[in-house]
Amino acid sequence: MQGFAGKVAVVTGAGSGIGRALAVELARSGAQLAISDLDTEGLAETEKRVAALGVPVKADRLNVTEREAFLLYADEVNEHFGKVNQIYNNAGIAFNGDIEVSPFKDIERVMDVDFWGVVNGTKAFLPHLIASGDGHVINISSLFGLLSMPGQGAYNAAKFAVRGFTEALNLEMSMNKHPVKVTTVHPGGIKTAIARNATAVEGMDVEALADFFDRRLASTSAEKAAQVILEGVSKKRDRVLIGNDARALDLLVRILGSKYQRLFALALPRLRPQ
Ligand SMILES: NC(=O)c1ccc[n+]([C@@H]2O[C@H](COP(=O)([O-])OP(=O)(O)OC[C@H]3O[C@@H](n4cnc5c(N)ncnc54)[C@H](O)[C@@H]3O)[C@@H](O)[C@H]2O)c1
Repeated sequence: MQGFAGKVAVVTGAGSGIGRALAVELARSGAQLAISDLDTEGLAETEKRVAALGVPVKADRLNVTEREAFLLYADEVNEHFGKVNQIYNNAGIAFNGDIEVSPFKDIERVMDVDFWGVVNGTKAFLPHLIASGDGHVINISSLFGLLSMPGQGAYNAAKFAVRGFTEALNLEMSMNKHPVKVTTVHPGGIKTAIARNATAVEGMDVEALADFFDRRLASTSAEKAAQVILEGVSKKRDRVLIGNDARALDLLVRILGSKYQRLFALALPRLRPQ
């Protein structure tokens, strides 16, 4: 991929799935990397793959919900490489459960990782990205940040919030003439461990949900997702949709407007796993 050579890129949640694929694709494109994850084993494997490509890599355990640690980490990365050009706020978790029966703590946990993790990463790195003279914030929302799904209320809330936050940032960077591009990413179903790593309300069979996700919903590989994201970054796109599912459903919702909710309420009971 063109335009990444010599850039310093930060990837959160790089120990698995899209984050790992982004790290490898960025390394292949000549970027220098700061990768992090909560899961140190997964992170070590990504570090190995990136290092094998002969690229400078700094790997750290980082929980994106820990704001103070994130702020210190941003300064550390900037000091280590002398600049930071790109942050991919990618770390995320999923939770399944209707709102009526979802405990507050589970909804809060999803907001903490999927929304506040993105806010922490964006704000921690923004001064460095502006100072670089050539910065880019890439925030991973979801197709579920464009439309809502039954059983995904917490995730929908976090991913819609990421979209609102990131689009506002895009307007501000542009209007304040800061040298920082901003991209919101909306993947459809991607073949990663997200559903296996997910939690659910009591009584729900997470294994069965993960099987359903893997068989019926995950249609794009993580490697393809990473390539589509980097292409969007190199073309400085405001929004990146990944997969035919994301493109088709985005179009449907734009055509139907809020009436998509009536259609989904009728059609989805037949598609949901029991
Ligand atoms: N897979 C999909 O179908 C899909 C669709 C739309 C959006 N997304 C989004 O893509 C992003 C990447 O997900 P993925 O599919 O690669 O899932 P994944 O489970 O394979 O990878 C997520 C990574 O984030 C890490 N992580 C979780 N909580 C963390 C925390 N508090 N601090 C630091 N790291 C943490 C995990 O350890 C894991 O390595 C997420 O934001 C997810 O919501 C995924």
